[in-house]
Amino acid sequence: MIFTQKDGTAQGVAKQRLIETLAGPDARVINDPYAERFVIGPGIIKLMGHKLSIWLGQKLAPGFHEHLISRTRFIDELIEKSAISGTEQYVILGAGYDMRAHRLGLPSALRIFEVDQPEVQARKRSKLPKDLANSENVTYVSVDFTHQSLAEQLLAAGFDQSKPTVFTLEGVSQYITKEAVSSTIEELAMLTQETRSTFFISYVDELLDKDPEACFGRGYPNPAKRAEAIKSLSAKFGEPWISFYTAEEMASVLSRSGYSIKENVTLEDLNAPYFAPVGRTLPENQIFKLEHFVVAEG
Ligand SMILES: C[S@@+](CC[C@H](N)C(=O)[O-])C[C@H]1O[C@@H](n2cnc3c(N)ncnc32)[C@H](O)[C@@H]1O
Repeated sequence: MIFTQKDGTAQGVAKQRLIETLAGPDARVINDPYAERFVIGPGIIKLMGHKLSIWLGQKLAPGFHEHLISRTRFIDELIEKSAISGTEQYVILGAGYDMRAHRLGLPSALRIFEVDQPEVQARKRSKLPKDLANSENVTYVSVDFTHQSLAEQLLAAGFDQSKPTVFTLEGVSQYITKEAVSSTIEELAMLTQETRSTFFISYVDELLDKDPEACFGRGYPNPAKRAEAIKSLSAKFGEPWISFYTAEEMASVLSRSGYSIKENVTLEDLNAPYFAPVGRTLPENQIFKLEHFVVAEG
């Protein structure tokens, strides 16, 4: 497989959004008509279709697809709710090939900043269609969280410290050091000290290393082997998982910056609300709950 520098995992997530979109309007949980632009070999995936692609993915890890899709849906809902309750800025941290800015029909009053590494942003921008909904409200900000100041770059790009803001860090914390996660959160708090902010962060449970069985539903096949396979897949893409948290540790990192947790959920909580309405509820032995989805307010 060919990956441009640094975008292997961003492509991986876009691929799952493409697979979900192929389920069609009555059976899908999210809709991302742009995902196919960022994936290598979209024609083959489209030819295989939703069901066969899901079946193949289950060979690697049952529930992995549904876990990623429930994360996307959870954040879609958070952003839609925030936009109607007075949030004026949305900062997508580690945006990769996230197309929320364009696919959700967000109000034009919501100013959006997409933050990622320059190489990934350049590839994304080269793949965007010309007449893209809401493009005039999106500003790209290049930042490497491990050695650049997010606050400096955001302010230089026109971030307004007086406006209520929502930040999302989706599928990123596991790839960067705990120091980089903490300093990023401190910068968010500093940027929004005059106003209210909401912060979404996903994190991988440290039980993945210590007690893999606890990260899956009862009866999940070979949990320790699957945990290793998932970790080595990310490493193979050149982006190994390096940071894991307990719920207490995440709460304490957030509270040091003045954020308190409002929700902490996994696929186990979202399985019924998201997948039952489309007749795709997962059985207990396919639940994949090693990554948590946290909403905090500050
Ligand atoms: C798994 S992808 C998730 C992308 C997107 N949030 C999504 O869910 O579709 C991880 C993203 O984090 C970005 N990332 C990883 N390390 C980074 C760093 N040090 N600074 C900025 N972005 C980083 C990658 O470029 C990639 O786009």
